[in-house]
Amino acid sequence: MTNTSQFPATGATHPVPQRPLLISNVRPYGEGDPVDVLVRDGVIAEMGPGLAEKLAGDEAQQAEVIDGAGNVLLPGLVDMHVHLREPGREDTETIETGSQAAAKGGFTAVFTMANTNPATDQPVIAESIWAKAQRIGTCDVHPVGSITKGLEGKTLTEFGMMARSDAKVRMFSDDGKCVADPQLMRRALEYAKGLDVLLAQHAEEPRLTDGAVAHEGETAAKLGLTGWPRVAEESIVARDALLARDYGNRVHICHASTTGTVELLKWAKSQDIPLTAEVTPHHLLLTDDKLHTYDGVFRVNPPLREEHDTQALRQALLDGVIDCVATDHAPHGAEDKCVEFENAKPGMLGLESSLAVIAEIFVASGLADWRFVARVMSERPAEITRLPGHGRPVAVGEPANLTLVDPNSPWTSDATRLASKARNNPYEGEEFNAQVTHTILRGAVTYSREAED
Ligand code: DOR
Ligand code: ZN
Repeated sequence: MTNTSQFPATGATHPVPQRPLLISNVRPYGEGDPVDVLVRDGVIAEMGPGLAEKLAGDEAQQAEVIDGAGNVLLPGLVDMHVHLREPGREDTETIETGSQAAAKGGFTAVFTMANTNPATDQPVIAESIWAKAQRIGTCDVHPVGSITKGLEGKTLTEFGMMARSDAKVRMFSDDGKCVADPQLMRRALEYAKGLDVLLAQHAEEPRLTDGAVAHEGETAAKLGLTGWPRVAEESIVARDALLARDYGNRVHICHASTTGTVELLKWAKSQDIPLTAEVTPHHLLLTDDKLHTYDGVFRVNPPLREEHDTQALRQALLDGVIDCVATDHAPHGAEDKCVEFENAKPGMLGLESSLAVIAEIFVASGLADWRFVARVMSERPAEITRLPGHGRPVAVGEPANLTLVDPNSPWTSDATRLASKARNNPYEGEEFNAQVTHTILRGAVTYSREAED
């Protein structure tokens, strides 16, 4: 089956009148008795038991029906941190393949970082990403604008022009690199405040990570790898918390990875500083133990840390100290990954595995429920980015951006079955239980597991 029929276009920004969609026997948030959900014109029109039987005449004939038995219904997932590599590295991922990977992972909206080539530092580049994704219609792809021109850390970009462009850029980040110069970060904060846009910081003091390829600890020492100390992240988190306090704009910390970062976030929140943070599925699940094979797939920035870090990150997400999950989906080709560990490019895939990883850590273990998953993978990222239409309650009158999950459907992670172009899958051969079965964007099915084989 080709990708186009597997992921039908949706006519995203201006929803065309579609066939009604009926999702039968599904449990919103995995709670209560199963209900039927009727979607008309991209909006949840009715919810309740026995709707299928009540549908009359033409509508009953025309309706597209999804059998939701055994499935949990969640608001469509939102990922505020991915890398889709277009423009520049279309050999590793494109807006189209990235959108397909996103839909397969249950996402209805993603934010793609600015470290493209050329960098997303002007309205024309942001607009082309947004327009292309809307034409494809498989996922809303929001471009992130860079904070500095060419991500060079020297001159601020025109936030206002990008914010006012057709792409409506609402988040700015030099992710991949840190805005290390404190004066520049201060100016960026002051500028962002006037426009009420979000700054997302890749917290890495570069003077402390020169040549670093792995977490600074016992494993790196044993393997002879140069270490990336926790303080490189934490010193920037602390600095930016203080800048956010004194210059009053929102700062979001990308991929929090250490116990110390959790402590700093706790302090910042106790002071009502407008600091938010995300954590990746890989920093919640994996540790630097994985490095013993020197497999370049496990090189990532920030690096995989130690067991106590993963435990602190899990607890912080449960407590709301860390706000949300973001994948940092970072596709790379074999030529950049199947090489000596030191020469491998940092980054790992995440879009197609994140829901399963989060379900495994938090739901299957009994630590949390599906409401929690909806909060950290949909509602909070939509709130932090002030994204309308996504992360909304599963309720009548709301946009039909929805994800269906079968919590009991064992599967084995296999890079050859990915929608993504890249193969740098850190979970190869691992078994999971939860699987996305359908993703729905404004009432149109953008992914269906049934259509896959
Ligand atoms: O591991 C990473 N890969 N971390 C980043 O911050 C950037 C990303 C990439 O672009 O590959
Ligand atoms: Zn990133």
